[in-house]
Amino acid sequence: MYRLQAIFILLLLWSGLPIAVFASPAGSPRHIVKRGKPEYYTRNFNTISSIYKFTIFPNMQPIIAQAQNANIPEVAELFSPNVSGRIQDVGNFTNFRTSIEYFYGLAPQPRPGNPAAITAATIPQFVSGCPEVATSTVYFTISGADPHQSKFGEVITYLKQTGFWHFDSEGRVDYYDLYIPALGDFTTILNGADFNDPTVQTLARKQLCQGAQAFCTGANAQYKPNLGINLKKLLSQLGLNMLTDQKLISTLGLTSLNAGELTCMSRLLEKDFGIFDKLWSDTIVCRIVHLMLAQSDPEEHCPHVGFDGGMKCVEYPYEKRLFGDDDRLFGTTDQYPHIDRFICPDV
Ligand SMILES: *[C@@H]1O[C@H](CO)[C@@H](O)[C@H](O)[C@H]1NC(C)=O
Ligand SMILES: *[C@@H]1O[C@H](CO)[C@@H](O)[C@H](O)[C@H]1NC(C)=O
Repeated sequence: MYRLQAIFILLLLWSGLPIAVFASPAGSPRHIVKRGKPEYYTRNFNTISSIYKFTIFPNMQPIIAQAQNANIPEVAELFSPNVSGRIQDVGNFTNFRTSIEYFYGLAPQPRPGNPAAITAATIPQFVSGCPEVATSTVYFTISGADPHQSKFGEVITYLKQTGFWHFDSEGRVDYYDLYIPALGDFTTILNGADFNDPTVQTLARKQLCQGAQAFCTGANAQYKPNLGINLKKLLSQLGLNMLTDQKLISTLGLTSLNAGELTCMSRLLEKDFGIFDKLWSDTIVCRIVHLMLAQSDPEEHCPHVGFDGGMKCVEYPYEKRLFGDDDRLFGTTDQYPHIDRFICPDV
């Protein structure tokens, strides 16, 4: 008899029926009220989803086109005008303009020779315990997105971003602290190139300098032609010999560089190449990323591509990068000390 009852209850558990009704004394069944998710939970989830939806190609294009505008209607309800945050290990973005540029200006878009773009953004991890704070993880799917190139519609790889968000009283993100792991591996797969290879590095430096000269012009120019720098000097800096390395030199296309590009390359040979897992540094990799941003906002980002890094592509010590700047990034006020920024306030 007892055994039968036990099996009965197990079956109920399995079927998900509220066993409390059966366990309570006869005549007074207690009902378990299943409440839906709180309104703020769904609101915050939708805000984060919408932020990421605009990274999907080609949704980011109208946003980037408005990068220099004070107000961008599409994302006005998603980000506070004073939004500020950090993306480890890319950098800190302390206003609306640079935050928007980070979120959308760096989203890959199909280019000649590389058809990769974000084609989906799914949120497998999310929780929000109060209107002010949520934590999430997004998986970006990167696929071929150009019908005229190979891999169209094929998944190339994925990218993960995880972290915390803070929302203002209108439900807009005003602070964020996010992290992208294994960006080095991601970049290698995305570009199909090993950035540890010295030839790849020289090619990357060359493309950086060509881009810097193409996008950063006039008042935004960073590398003025220096007559003392010519191909011969650059080759000797690179340890290449005009005669014995002729094939490599022509493969790299070094003979076609103009005076400004030669100057840029020669000067930037003083900088370490760096690694994509630590973009926030005085390196070539940091300048490659900021060159992407300079295409949509030269005034803001060209200085970062320049020789002194424009206070962005600079060495920023480990403790400062990760911890030391919380006060300024996440806004200290008397009633809301920064240390609590991503913790639900007491109710
Ligand atoms: C943004 O910051 C300025 C000054 O720092 C402040 O006056 C303004 O109220 C803030 N705006 C919002 C929407 O928080
Ligand atoms: C952000 O990082 C830069 C270095 O990249 C640093 O100079 C700056 O002080 C940091 N913090 C803020 C709040 O801007």
